Amino acid sequence: WPFYAPLIFEINRLKKEKDAVILAHNYQTPQIYHGVADIVGDSLQLAVEATKVTQQVIVQCGVHFMAETSKLLNPSKTVLIPDSRAGCSLASSITAEDVIAMRKMYPGVPVVTYVNTSAAVKAVTDVCCTSSNAVDIVNRVEGDTVIMIPDQYLARNTAKLTHKKIITWAGSCEVHETFTADDISELRHAYPTAKIIAHPECPPEVIDAVDFAGSTAAMIDWVKSTKPPRVVMVTECSMSDNVASETTGVDFLRGCNICPHMKRINLENVLWSLHTMSEEITVPEEIIPAARLAVERMIEMSR
Ligand code: 13P
Ligand code: SF4
Repeated sequence: WPFYAPLIFEINRLKKEKDAVILAHNYQTPQIYHGVADIVGDSLQLAVEATKVTQQVIVQCGVHFMAETSKLLNPSKTVLIPDSRAGCSLASSITAEDVIAMRKMYPGVPVVTYVNTSAAVKAVTDVCCTSSNAVDIVNRVEGDTVIMIPDQYLARNTAKLTHKKIITWAGSCEVHETFTADDISELRHAYPTAKIIAHPECPPEVIDAVDFAGSTAAMIDWVKSTKPPRVVMVTECSMSDNVASETTGVDFLRGCNICPHMKRINLENVLWSLHTMSEEITVPEEIIPAARLAVERMIEMSR
C-alpha cells in the first residue's frame, strides 16, 4: 500500500479538480476498490448509481459494457474508461443481428438480455437483467416463454427457479465457465468446515453443489451477514480480497479465477484517464433511446 499511496493521493485530488466520480465494480483490485472508488457495487447497483451522478465526469472502473450502461443512463455526462479494451466474453458472444435473427425464429417471445452486452444488443432487447434480478425479471415479463441471452449458464440457473420456458444463447463467462462440480468436491474435501459460495454465471452443476449463489453484491452481503468461520468465494479473485479487509472473523480460502478484462484497469491508467480525460465512451445517437429503455425497464422492474 505505501507504494500505491502517491497514485491514490493524486487520483483523489484530480477527481475534485475534474469534478469526477469513480464507479467501481466489486471485481476491481483493493487499491481501486478501497483506495479511489466513490461507489462500489454489482452491475445493478452501479447502473442505479449512474442515474444519480451529479458530477460532470464518471470514471468507470470495470469493463466496457458497464461504462456504456452509465453513458446510456446519464448521457449528458462524460463517461471515461481507463482502458477501452476491457471487454467481456459474454458481451462479445452476441451481436444485434443475432438477436434480430432470434426474434424472427421465435416471433412474439420477449427478449431478456443480460447487461453484459453491447448497447447495440440492448437496443434490440425488451428488458435487461443482471445476476441479481434475473429470476424476477423473467417472471415479470409477459408470456410463458422467454428468450434469455447471452449467458447459457445464467439462463439455465434461472430456468431452475422459474416455471417459464427459457430459450438461450451459447455465450458464457470465461472466468466462471471453467469451474466444475469436481472443483467443488475437491474444495469440500480440502476444507470440510468451509462454506462455498458462487456466482450464477457458473455451470448449473457448480451452483447445485454450493451453499449459496448470487450476484457479486449478494455474495458480499451473504458473507457479511452470515459470517461463516471459513468461506470460499467461487468467482473473481478480487472479491475475497476486497471483502476480507472489511470483515473480521472470517477466513477467506482461495478458489477463484482472475478476469483479465477487469484487471486491465489499474491505478496508473485511472490516473492517466483523469489526467487526459480519456478514453471517452460514446454510443451512436440512434441506439441510445432503445438501449436506454431496456435498462430503465429493468431498473423500474427491480424496485
Ligand atoms: P454482478 O452483476 O453480479 O456484479 O456480475 C457482473 C459480472 O461481470 C460477473 O462476472
Ligand atoms: Fe465478463 Fe466474466 Fe469478466 Fe464478468 S467475469 S466481466 S462476465 S468475462
